[in-house]
Amino acid sequence: MNFEIPPGLTDLLQEFTVTVLREKPADLVEFAAQYFTKLNDSNTSKTAGRRGVKFSEPSDQDEPMQTDSDEEFVPPELPKNRFNRRKSVCAERYDPEADDDEAEEKVVFPKSDDQRRRLQAAVKNILIFRALDQEQMQEVLDAMFEKKTEPGEHIIEQGDDGDNFYVVDQGVYDIHVNNKNVGAYDNQGSFGELALMYNTPRAATIISSSQGVLWALDRSSFRRIVLKNAARKRKMYEKLIDGVPMLSSLTQFERMNLADALISRTYNAGDQIIRQGDEGDGCYFVESGVVRIAMKNQEDPTKEVEIARCEKGQYFGELALVTHKPRAASAYAAAPNTKCAFIDVAAFERLLGPCMDVMKRNISNYEDQLVKLFGKSIDLSDARS
Ligand code: CMP
Ligand code: CMP
Repeated sequence: MNFEIPPGLTDLLQEFTVTVLREKPADLVEFAAQYFTKLNDSNTSKTAGRRGVKFSEPSDQDEPMQTDSDEEFVPPELPKNRFNRRKSVCAERYDPEADDDEAEEKVVFPKSDDQRRRLQAAVKNILIFRALDQEQMQEVLDAMFEKKTEPGEHIIEQGDDGDNFYVVDQGVYDIHVNNKNVGAYDNQGSFGELALMYNTPRAATIISSSQGVLWALDRSSFRRIVLKNAARKRKMYEKLIDGVPMLSSLTQFERMNLADALISRTYNAGDQIIRQGDEGDGCYFVESGVVRIAMKNQEDPTKEVEIARCEKGQYFGELALVTHKPRAASAYAAAPNTKCAFIDVAAFERLLGPCMDVMKRNISNYEDQLVKLFGKSIDLSDARS
């Protein structure tokens, strides 16, 4: 006999299961009766199965992003809140240190070996998870559950409240902001963190354009495990990013993704950061201290000539990534405790496309500088062009 699974059944049962695991009711049948009655009552305008039921509305203390301020957090590039149901929030004022949100129970979805393998592969390059330590990452993996998607399915609807955070396993997912297609996740990436982090309505609509598989993390687990660390990291790099003129063309959303991708590295005076001739593995933004750029002498390659110094707000190590050539020069820390934020080549290519023109224009400045120093021209242009 063939059974057809009605649309929404899997989601409905998954969300019910998450709620049961979290709330641990003594009487499961009574709990289920209440759960589905509440769901039915609250579903006048929403589709069953896509929305969870909150049994205990979180208090102000449970909502770490809320502030006493009436000021509304609306990331500049994101659409404005249509509903304003939640109390206003402000990412700037959210103090991760003051947040004591550890009390909630862990959620564990058992997984087959195949699921575990696919999940590991899917989360490998998820930038927002870079803020987590190993134990927190394990907790996230335990709490994630699989969600199969159908072509045309709206995974997220702009303006809705946030339920889950999603990581793409397979499939293509279109991104629409104000009914305009602004991009797609093609078999990789993650989405749905903004509404959960900043307590704002969903900033975009995400539509599955093929059959696919997502990994979902429920709102409560996201906030308990990921929020604090990710928010701390975004806050930490916000000022650095705002202080780099080259990044001024990035939208607010792109800046947040960049903050997720950055990793701080600290050097002692004299430490080598980049070696001339090496393959480029990433680019650096100076957070504090001084970095000395030096190039081998054209006449005597055993000697180096200093060609530049980089300080806070400046970057280096982009040239090899833009030109696909080996490192053109070496870089050394020139002050104690020199701190740089590093972005690896994969994230650089994914996130810094909008700044490529500025970086390319700067290559001719480098070339002019080298003519002045060495009295002859050195070609730094793109190896592929
Ligand atoms: P959230 O607002 O929770 O739900 C929609 C998601 O779409 C959002 O989180 C982001 O993760 C993602 N997204 C992708 N591109 C954009 C964009 N340009 N603006 C806003 N959100 C975007
Ligand atoms: P990259 O070639 O990846 O590594 C060395 C870095 O030194 C280079 O990127 C630039 O960011 C930086 N640099 C600063 N001034 C110059 C210059 N005049 N010529 C080449 N690289 C320079």
